[in-house]
Amino acid sequence: MDENETIKMIKSRRAIRDYVTSKDVPDELIYKIIEAGAYAPSAENQQPWRVIVVRNKKLQRLIGQIAVDRTIELFGRATPREEIERRLGYIESKVSLERTIDILITGQRFEYIKGEPETNGAPVILVLAIDQTHVGNSQATLRGTGGVYGWSSPRHAVIAGSMMMQNMALAAAALGIGSCVSSVQLDHFDDVGAISKELGIPYPHWVPILCLTLGYPVSERTLGPPRQMPEEIAFLDKWGKPFKK
Ligand SMILES: Cc1cc2nc3c(=O)[nH]c(=O)nc-3n(C[C@H](O)[C@H](O)[C@H](O)COP(=O)(O)O)c2cc1C
Repeated sequence: MDENETIKMIKSRRAIRDYVTSKDVPDELIYKIIEAGAYAPSAENQQPWRVIVVRNKKLQRLIGQIAVDRTIELFGRATPREEIERRLGYIESKVSLERTIDILITGQRFEYIKGEPETNGAPVILVLAIDQTHVGNSQATLRGTGGVYGWSSPRHAVIAGSMMMQNMALAAAALGIGSCVSSVQLDHFDDVGAISKELGIPYPHWVPILCLTLGYPVSERTLGPPRQMPEEIAFLDKWGKPFKK
């Protein structure tokens, strides 16, 4: 049976980390991508998200350098090599494995975020910030009414923001644009503060949580890391009782 087009697209979207730097993504397409993002569901329709379209090279270099530095710290220094090898165990070719480890521990893997042609940099970065206040003030019609204190509104914002991000990644793929969600430059609170300052994000009420690089891929990437199938991740009625089709 032919698979549904939407499901096919969901399955074929890949994280793209090599872009044709010289081929810009026009604002009209970025608009469409963000618009698709805005159709994501959110608790009480609070839409607790804002997106900053980063085209400025200086800002891109800053965000990219943070990603590179943190990767060197995390994978180059703090993570034992056996652990990195274990995590990348799905890579069958020894040469590819060594290459992947090398670009990871030296931080090269994230040079593309700086947007430079030598490293196939992405021409655009979207930075997604979410509303961490309790009062649901990110959408005018709900101002002051939503996210009553104690109702985990900040958590809802992370969840809704993540759904928005996935919508954007899928919309990009549907338009033939490659993307990569990345958090490495926002995983440390120092970096969240530094990036917020540079982009003028009113942190900590608004917190940048994820970036999405956008651009035309250097080459089509269809093969991704393996996925667990429903038999492995789904249960029927009770935890541990397998769900089968
Ligand atoms: C919350 C989140 C954070 C991620 N952070 C990074 C990151 O910092 N750097 C990166 O290169 N990819 C990052 N990714 C992309 C994943 O590595 C990628 O989606 C995953 O390996 C599956 O590959 P695929 O998207 O090609 O199927 C992130 C994805 C998500 C959802």
